[in-house]
Amino acid sequence: MSAIPRDQWYVAAYGTEIGQDLFSRTVCGEPILFWRTREGAVTAMADRCVHRRFPLSQAPSRLVDDQVVCGYHGFTYGTDGKCVAVPGQTRVPRTARLRSYPLAEQDSFVWVFIGDPEKADTAKIPRAPYLDAPGYTTVAGMEPLKARFSLLVDNLLDLSHETYLHGGYIGTPEVAETPITTEVDDEAGIVYVSRHMADAACPPFYAKSTGLQGRISRWQDIEYTPPCLYKLHSRIAPVGSVPNPDGSDPDAFHVEVVYAITPETEHSTHDFWAVARDFALDDDGVSAFLAENNRTVVLQDVEALDVLERVIATEPDGYQELSINIDTGGLAARRLLQRLVTS
Ligand code: FES
Ligand SMILES: [Fe+2]
Repeated sequence: MSAIPRDQWYVAAYGTEIGQDLFSRTVCGEPILFWRTREGAVTAMADRCVHRRFPLSQAPSRLVDDQVVCGYHGFTYGTDGKCVAVPGQTRVPRTARLRSYPLAEQDSFVWVFIGDPEKADTAKIPRAPYLDAPGYTTVAGMEPLKARFSLLVDNLLDLSHETYLHGGYIGTPEVAETPITTEVDDEAGIVYVSRHMADAACPPFYAKSTGLQGRISRWQDIEYTPPCLYKLHSRIAPVGSVPNPDGSDPDAFHVEVVYAITPETEHSTHDFWAVARDFALDDDGVSAFLAENNRTVVLQDVEALDVLERVIATEPDGYQELSINIDTGGLAARRLLQRLVTS
């Protein structure tokens, strides 16, 4: 049985990736064709011609005035996926229609609904408003992962690995040393994992971007809404600084690290990452540094998880794990994911 929850919203792309040309991405095993109409709306439909399955994203298929013309024999489709012309006859078969996907463009992401379109409710899409809100500057990217998406969920829910896998970037000894607290909101379907370090070394990722030197107060508050959206609210401040009772927090630097974890297939994943900050908003040097550094960190995870996927694939009948306190968040996430698969 598939471990990928269906009837769910998944991030398929950044809005900036989709223009007035044909763009294809596979989500949960389904190849999907995207383009932006001349009016600016994004369309999403099956990337396989109903005639002989030729990919519509594949040249010489082309976009002509908001219609896609199949590059094999010329079947032509409108923005709703309906076939409007076929070669050699005037009558278009009534069933000639590409499956189209419910879609929403929000917080810089293009979300698609995988499963029964009747169940698609855009109000259920989790939010990450900082990614295109005033007061924040964001750098972002996407790395392909040759590993099942649950391995990335495990990875992101337990940040103690930063100390070992990301030493010299975001990891310091205090991350692995400090215990976490985990909470689950079963009704909303959200896992929260927090680690507050009162007095910790400042890793280069934050020292270079904030200018803070020496010891810092470092908070990591994770909020994961299965299956796709993961947010790490990161707070960096001088030791002893706490937010004001009214919520203002002028001495702190805030970084919202967002991941969208989208299965490409059962054994590969689109690893979307974004880093939004509320300081040095116009400093291109800080943007370049954070983009380069975070991509390096993501690639360290990708390399490790690609290895892990190959290793566990050799144990298809199941494998033994040994979980400890640091895994509480990951285990809670697995439970919520399992509930989504079986519900
Ligand atoms: S496969 Fe597309 S028109 Fe024949
Ligand atoms: Fe990591």
